[in-house]
Amino acid sequence: MTTVGILGGTGPAGRGVAVRLASAGYEVAVGSRDAERAYEIASRLEPRGTGKVRGVSNSDAAKCDVVIVATPWESTLETLREIAGDLENKIVVSMVNAMQKQGREMQPVFPAAGSCAQEIAAVLPTSKIVTAFNHLPAAQMEDLDSGLDADVILSGSDNEAMAEVAVMVSAMPGLHAIEAGSLALAGTIEAFTSVCISVNIRNKAHSYVKLEGIAR
Ligand SMILES: NC(=O)c1ccc[n+]([C@@H]2O[C@H](COP(=O)([O-])OP(=O)(O)OC[C@H]3O[C@@H](n4cnc5c(N)ncnc54)[C@H](OP(=O)(O)O)[C@@H]3O)[C@@H](O)[C@H]2O)c1
Repeated sequence: MTTVGILGGTGPAGRGVAVRLASAGYEVAVGSRDAERAYEIASRLEPRGTGKVRGVSNSDAAKCDVVIVATPWESTLETLREIAGDLENKIVVSMVNAMQKQGREMQPVFPAAGSCAQEIAAVLPTSKIVTAFNHLPAAQMEDLDSGLDADVILSGSDNEAMAEVAVMVSAMPGLHAIEAGSLALAGTIEAFTSVCISVNIRNKAHSYVKLEGIAR
């Protein structure tokens, strides 16, 4: 079975993905700057999955078959530069969004390359970058009983890599992968997250993305 490492997997976003990946049968390595912290958090997650989550350093997580980036945008490129060698030629999934709070809403920040994912692609030129999970609410992801039934919009410039990620995502309970297109779409996908969060703040809601008019 494919092993999946999650960089910054100790945060809410990474934990939610870890729980659902483990439920789908994947071997998950939750990565951290501090392997002991990852071990402690992973052992709390484990009973909720299928005993398939372990806690490791980010550099050990980077040795997995597929690697998910779940770090804050501000520290993402620095984190990736340290482990770039282990990510060569691999599928690297970015769920990273760049945004800033302005009053009661979140507003998107567009990195110079157009998106976090395209900046990541420039740092990891041989890796196959795919965006996924950008819009998912972490708390509902981590709670397998939350009733989450969400679409996950993917972008990536390597169609085979995007298709592999789509299979992984659709195997996770409550999630349906939808392939959108190339990494040129990543900026719009990432930026829409700030719309979702602002909607939730203004409407005291826990909404998520679900597209109509597409067969599943
Ligand atoms: N939260 C959500 O609902 C959600 C949903 C979809 C996508 N996202 C995206 O996913 C990413 C992670 O979100 P999050 O809410 O989980 O963020 P977070 O809690 O702020 O950070 C996640 C993990 O990143 C590591 N980290 C924090 N600061 C770091 C630094 N300066 N250098 C290296 N590692 C650092 C920490 O792990 P260690 O201290 O263990 O190293 C932390 O647990 C973000 O880009 C976010 O936009 C979030």
